[in-house]
Amino acid sequence: ERCKIVAVDGPAGSGKSSVCAMACQQLGWTYVNTGFLYRSIALICRRQNGSFQDSELLRSIVRDFTENLSWDPKAGKVFYLGEDLSDALYTDQAGKDASLIAKNPAVREELLPLQRKLSLQSPIGAIVDGRDIGTVVFPDADFKVFMTASIEERAKRRLIQLQGGPDKETDRSKLEEIKSSIEARDKQDAARGTSPLKQADDAYFFDTSDISVERAVAKLVELIKSNV
Ligand code: C5P
Repeated sequence: ERCKIVAVDGPAGSGKSSVCAMACQQLGWTYVNTGFLYRSIALICRRQNGSFQDSELLRSIVRDFTENLSWDPKAGKVFYLGEDLSDALYTDQAGKDASLIAKNPAVREELLPLQRKLSLQSPIGAIVDGRDIGTVVFPDADFKVFMTASIEERAKRRLIQLQGGPDKETDRSKLEEIKSSIEARDKQDAARGTSPLKQADDAYFFDTSDISVERAVAKLVELIKSNV
């Protein structure tokens, strides 16, 4: 019997990654953040001075990446040819670049088997987070969640993350800048022809705008325990 799969989709900055990672810790499951795959491909392409429109180049990058990737889900680290890419992946630029290459159907097609393989090798269960997990990668997932939050709240969370803590004074202009960058990425992710960001019909709609990360984690764990 295969391991359990819970699909969590939603827009940028909705808190998916922190909530899913903590829920996995509590459940003893594996957390698979598929965004890191798109981010890695974009990073490698940029380093090679490649074009984000060059489907053949992108296909070969995905194949090479698939062969030379080692991944530590517990530490949340990604190694490519022995190099730790993790820090370079979680920049704003890498997120924007990822969204650009994610529009390309060739990239999505090539990344499908890798996403399934990384998830299905989990011993008990995996929470897989992305944009099209419940609709395309695992349409038959054991449970699906669509996680979101208001744009205001998502921008605030991202700012706190960038500042490295909540106790600093809020920088209004920085907040507005983040807001428009998140909005642009959402728009791009929802408008693309292949696998756009959208809620699966059978997904549980989970708005985390007004609750703490801890409450969101507890809720997700409870949902998984009673539905999977
Ligand atoms: O989730 P994260 O912000 O790391 O994802 C970066 C970008 O990768 C997203 O904006 C989206 O364009 C793309 N992505 C995707 N499908 C996924 C995961 C990420 O298109 N399953």
